[in-house]
Amino acid sequence: MQTINEIIKQSLEKDRAISDAGVERILDKKLESRTPLADCSELWSLADLGLSQVSSVNEASEASQLRLRHVLGQGRLREAWSIEKAGMSFAAKMSLLSESLNEQKLYSLFAADEARHFHCIDESLGEQRPDHNDPFINLLNEIIITAGRRPLIFIIQVVLEGWGIDHYASMSKTCREPGMQRLLHAILSDEAAHHGSGLALFKEAELTQIEQDYIFEMMTAFLGMVRIGPVGVLGTLEAEFGGWAPGQRARVLAEMDAEADTVRKLNLLESFLVKARAPKLLERLKQVDAFSPCF
Ligand SMILES: [Fe+2]
Ligand SMILES: [Fe+2]
Repeated sequence: MQTINEIIKQSLEKDRAISDAGVERILDKKLESRTPLADCSELWSLADLGLSQVSSVNEASEASQLRLRHVLGQGRLREAWSIEKAGMSFAAKMSLLSESLNEQKLYSLFAADEARHFHCIDESLGEQRPDHNDPFINLLNEIIITAGRRPLIFIIQVVLEGWGIDHYASMSKTCREPGMQRLLHAILSDEAAHHGSGLALFKEAELTQIEQDYIFEMMTAFLGMVRIGPVGVLGTLEAEFGGWAPGQRARVLAEMDAEADTVRKLNLLESFLVKARAPKLLERLKQVDAFSPCF
């Protein structure tokens, strides 16, 4: 007999989409609309991607700029693909862990939201599949597998879905393709309900010491990824331009105004702990400087 953690792990690891032909026909009817394949290079401009002031990008050839728009635009959709895929397993687990029938109804409805989000992102990405080396996605999956109900409500719904609202809002606001813009906006309004219910259900006083320690450990790991700034974007630029000369990495970060953007993100994350009335967790994270940028 498999444990629930093993079942959730297996659920998160599967990446085969196609099922039986009969299932496919029913899904087609249920999901109705078809999302067109996205041209990732046309979704966001270099300015929308935060690169308008980066001199090496501005001086690059048109072909190089197009490649950057494509890789970074596709990177955003690939990350969303993994998050929405994880969201289906998260909502299923929360449905089983629910403490009332109405809570279970809510998570079952959320599971359907995540399935629709996943479906649309999957269609717009086509055959492209994310790699399995994204440290944020690996941490997200680990939390969904190992956390109990209360830490999941806090980390996933209060913090990560709150963060998702901001992320989808900025992607939607600047998206150049109207269909994708509508899709991102629709996802964002569902995520607002997911985040809102997390705020309603979370009570810091109910956490056991073990749950507090677990949340502290996972939040430190997550904030650690935010604190170091836009390393993913830097990695893409470095791959495109073939490595940095000494001092160039710091110059690119300054041109991107990366520190100010990272401070804004960390302040936003801190505000979720204030909103959720989690003073003990907030204090403990502040003691280790978890909300300060470090690069
Ligand atoms: Fe979602
Ligand atoms: Fe969600």
